[in-house]
Amino acid sequence: MKIRILSMFLTVALLTVPLVACGKTAETDSFDGIYEDEEYVETDEDVVVVGFSQIGAESDWRKVNTESMKETFANAEGYELIVDDAQQKQSNQITAIRRFIQQEVDYIVLAPVTEDGWDTVLGEARDAHIPVIIVDRMVDANNSLFTCWVGSDFLLESKKVTSWMNKYFTMQGIDGSEINIANIQGTYGASSQIGRTSGLSQAVRDNGWNFLGAECGEYTQARGREIMAQFLNKYRDINVVYCENDNEAFGAIEAIEAAGRKAGNNIKDGEIMVVSFDGVSDEALDKAGEGKIACIGECNPLHGPRVLEIIENLEAGITPNKFEYVDESIYSGEDRITTISVDGQSYYVTVLNK
Ligand code: AHR
Repeated sequence: MKIRILSMFLTVALLTVPLVACGKTAETDSFDGIYEDEEYVETDEDVVVVGFSQIGAESDWRKVNTESMKETFANAEGYELIVDDAQQKQSNQITAIRRFIQQEVDYIVLAPVTEDGWDTVLGEARDAHIPVIIVDRMVDANNSLFTCWVGSDFLLESKKVTSWMNKYFTMQGIDGSEINIANIQGTYGASSQIGRTSGLSQAVRDNGWNFLGAECGEYTQARGREIMAQFLNKYRDINVVYCENDNEAFGAIEAIEAAGRKAGNNIKDGEIMVVSFDGVSDEALDKAGEGKIACIGECNPLHGPRVLEIIENLEAGITPNKFEYVDESIYSGEDRITTISVDGQSYYVTVLNK
């Protein structure tokens, strides 16, 4: 823990002696607080201050992820969490990290919107000796620029979902050549988009599916709906849509139903199969139970306790693993498929009640 000196606000403090805030008097030589949105907040020097740069609130997953961080640190004694919502913009994330550096926080947690473009600002954090913990998506930067990463294996998530699909088609006697699939992608350049898109491309090649096309759905329901409506007009023979998160799938289902079609596994009878990722909300799990979403690759958003454990270890002088992948399942309402296999390893399917 450090004594915090706020260079950014020093001028203000010097011009305003004594500086009165929160009902207390603070002078520059006895500073023991931080500024949040230019408001003076008193902190204890024994408090560990964590600055969290969050991407935004594009999906149910993201909201649960933010809540996990807030709840964990609110309940942990001796911590203060400052959350910055970047509204999907990398430039806002870079500004937030620079502000955290000026505030001399003890740790920076970054959920990066895309993989590229972090070298300079992470170099600045390293020069300031502030450990950076990356969560969820990865950064494409030298490993020396961050302390560690914790998140999902997005390629494995995709391989599990496509393995489930292949098993289902085989079980139904549907040949690969009968599959006409389109892809609603996540935010371009995000690790989750890269991994999930890449897993789909491999499955298309391996199983001889017909790939119709892909559009970026930005992980939102509105874009999912819009893109699916376009797909339905453009690809008359579409029978599977691979959505890269549940919110896109909700939008796709709305578009399918608005076009008078049905979302479901029975593609031989004209239904359109929808698959997706996350499995965070009741709505998603209910839709999987009903068969409107055939299969969901779990993406676990509960990183708050994981980040806290990493920081506690660092405080105790213990070096965390550089990369930590979380265990994840897959969900489906189809009770005839209870296991799937990926690269020779078998995984259980969590079968949901109808
Ligand atoms: O990077 C994880 C992805 O980001 C989740 O699947 C998606 O819902 C979120 O917005």
